[in-house]
Amino acid sequence: MTHGNSAKSPKTLDKRFRNIAHRGASGYAPENTMAAFRLAVEMGCTEVETDTHLSADGELVLLHDATLDRTTDGTGTPSDYTLDELKQLDAGSWLTPDPGSPFRWRRDYHGERLITLSELFAEFGDRLTYHVELKDRAEGIAEAVVDAVRHFGLKESVFVTDFDRSDLLRRAVSLLSGLRSALAPRQALLADSVAAIEQAATAGHDMLFIAIDDLSEQIVAHGQRLGMEIRAYGVRCKQDVRRAQAVGADGMTCNWPDWCSDRVDADSSA
Ligand code: G3P
Ligand code: CA
Repeated sequence: MTHGNSAKSPKTLDKRFRNIAHRGASGYAPENTMAAFRLAVEMGCTEVETDTHLSADGELVLLHDATLDRTTDGTGTPSDYTLDELKQLDAGSWLTPDPGSPFRWRRDYHGERLITLSELFAEFGDRLTYHVELKDRAEGIAEAVVDAVRHFGLKESVFVTDFDRSDLLRRAVSLLSGLRSALAPRQALLADSVAAIEQAATAGHDMLFIAIDDLSEQIVAHGQRLGMEIRAYGVRCKQDVRRAQAVGADGMTCNWPDWCSDRVDADSSA
């Protein structure tokens, strides 16, 4: 195979890069709605990230914030409402389309609804890999997510994820053997990054996600040597994408999935 004049370094040659649509294609469509996930797929994504909260009647609703205020026309927490009540809310009108967005991605999202994890799984099945964050602080969130994964037979398509709560992830995995987990060891990294990575590997996590500003070749290599994938989060610009690839990360969450493909850019540089 020839690559013309662009010499690829051995490190990046043919490496697959997880281009994970963060809350769906949330740079263009209202985050965590079906519209955002469908747009991510339209853009060629095969992986999505999302956030889970429990409603008053125990349904898993996809929402990032602890409250409904920023991304819907409701107020309060999802646990204040039943799923039927949450379904009445408008989860699309808050987003003002970015006039700088490519025209083909600009749509009218007025009236878009909150959705459940089951609706997401039912729509895309095993065509996607899902990075499902246990966002809710309520008891029962891990069990509810595992039940949904089991119900849809998607164990091999899901990573359960969390910031700092290694024990909660381990509990989820203990409920469904073989389920993969990804940890952001945010607090531990602040104290001692080498120890944080070693603890995560000992705990059996499959992946770490680390803020793009904190990623380095050394951190990535150390995690990978211990058998974990390392992905970036907090990507804000195309230079961050290039940086994630240049340090050898295995992927990233990004609100603009059209900024890169799932192959490593041969010309990536920090
Ligand atoms: O996997 C989650 C990470 O990419 C960032 O998530 O919840 O801070 O938007 P969040
Ligand atoms: Ca998240």
